[in-house]
Amino acid sequence: MNIHNEKILILDFGSQTTQLIARRIREQKVYCEIHPYTFSLDSIKEMQPKGIVLSGGPASVYDEDAPLSDPGLFELDIPVLGICYGAQLMTLQLGGKVEKAQKREFGKSDLEVLFTGGLFAGLESGTCRYQIWMSHGDRIEVLPAGFESSAQSEHSPYAAIRHTEKNMVGVQFHPEVAHTLIGTDVLRNFIFGICGCDPNWTMHNFVESTVAEIRNKVGAEKVICALSGGVDSAVTAALVHKAIGDQLTCIYVNNGLMRTGETKSLMRFFQDKTHLNVIQVDAEEYFLGELDGVVDPEIKRKKIGYGFIKIFEEEAKKLGDVKYLAQGTLYPDVIESVSFRGGAVIKSHHNVGGLPEVMKLDLIEPLRDLFKDEVRELGLELGLPEEAIYRQPFPGPGLGIRIMGEVTRDRLAILRQADVIVLEEMKNSGYYRKVWQSFAVLLPIQTVGVMGDERTYENVIALRSVDSVDAMTADWSKLPYDLLGRISNRIINEVRGVNRVVFDVSSKPPSTIEWE
Ligand code: XMP
Repeated sequence: MNIHNEKILILDFGSQTTQLIARRIREQKVYCEIHPYTFSLDSIKEMQPKGIVLSGGPASVYDEDAPLSDPGLFELDIPVLGICYGAQLMTLQLGGKVEKAQKREFGKSDLEVLFTGGLFAGLESGTCRYQIWMSHGDRIEVLPAGFESSAQSEHSPYAAIRHTEKNMVGVQFHPEVAHTLIGTDVLRNFIFGICGCDPNWTMHNFVESTVAEIRNKVGAEKVICALSGGVDSAVTAALVHKAIGDQLTCIYVNNGLMRTGETKSLMRFFQDKTHLNVIQVDAEEYFLGELDGVVDPEIKRKKIGYGFIKIFEEEAKKLGDVKYLAQGTLYPDVIESVSFRGGAVIKSHHNVGGLPEVMKLDLIEPLRDLFKDEVRELGLELGLPEEAIYRQPFPGPGLGIRIMGEVTRDRLAILRQADVIVLEEMKNSGYYRKVWQSFAVLLPIQTVGVMGDERTYENVIALRSVDSVDAMTADWSKLPYDLLGRISNRIINEVRGVNRVVFDVSSKPPSTIEWE
């Protein structure tokens, strides 16, 4: 069965919430893909989506360089849902009028449903009001021929519109955000009621179809995969292994910068529960040698990234003819979208990036259609231990970028002990899975303290804990004082060489999650 047969196409006009639309649709077990608004009419015809969503966007339809889609898409007889900018664009391209609103609508608003079919099937009209979330400066003033208003808000007589005969609908609010309390109803009505999709995008089906695809592509060739200890590479390895068994070899490079016991449970799982081939390379000496005397964060990152590629390549060569590299690339990394304009390099991230070019390998990226929460679900479906699946993200350069200043064995030992305490306390209090990441950072300064009757002059540990949904933005976690107190007490009492703990209360931006 090809589960990608039935899909919804989302054309992205640059909204911050385009990815959210996709997630909300997939939560309903319907597969969807995001493409830039420039996606051609021919590509749409070839794709044969069951429905098209035009996303919101920051532009005004009257801007000189306003992003416009091919109006031919309204002639395809495929249902269309325009959201905010998308609804205004549809209005304009079909002959209606959009103007700057007298009063811009931002934030919560109340919706009165006028037509209780289509997008609002199952909801009530009359005195009932539904909370929605608006964010627009323009508004629809004149409807195109054949359209009528299906809902209104205080400032928008056309808060939702529908064609009376064709499957074309639009909303000026955002059904994808949580503040729109009827958002799920609206999206479900579109994908099931209007587009006629079936909810068949399940992880079980995904495993079946992806395993078949991998077998098909790989044939009898050999595949390698870098295991990092993280959930993405673990799930990739488990999935590829399910497809081609022994033809897959995984390589795990211990760079000496991992947390205490970081990969143990995962390795144990792979050794005990599967027959996955894992080569473990102990390269601690090499990496610590490379980092000797290095203080600059970017040089640290580059040295660690380069070292990884070098060692991985050496190991892979020993395996003989390898044709493919399996990699845990996720959907947010591949979306070709107008919202992802390139920016300045803040940090050079090190994953397995660079490997395929250096080693001339073809890629297998079985997770490239998935969001992080779907990867976790897939991991559970494949039987990976929960502990591995709900692990917090951990950066490729490891503790190397959590020790400010020079990375030495002694400083690694201090940070590891502090880090274990942070993790233990976060887990015991139930906060480990509530926050996005929580960890210790070793600072390059010493401060004065008093222990017993003695003066001390020792290291400072900073505690970092953040809440986030995608690591693009983050806020510091509002951890309870008693938890903070316990972590601080334990670190100062149990870790030799630390006499002070501070808590980082900066958000991202302007700070970043990691300190280097
Ligand atoms: P920043 O510090 O940029 O981190 O706010 C955002 C997220 O990315 C993780 N991170 C990395 N992940 N390789 C990775 O695989 C890296 O080089 C790297 N640097 C940062 C960080 O832990 C956070 O989740």
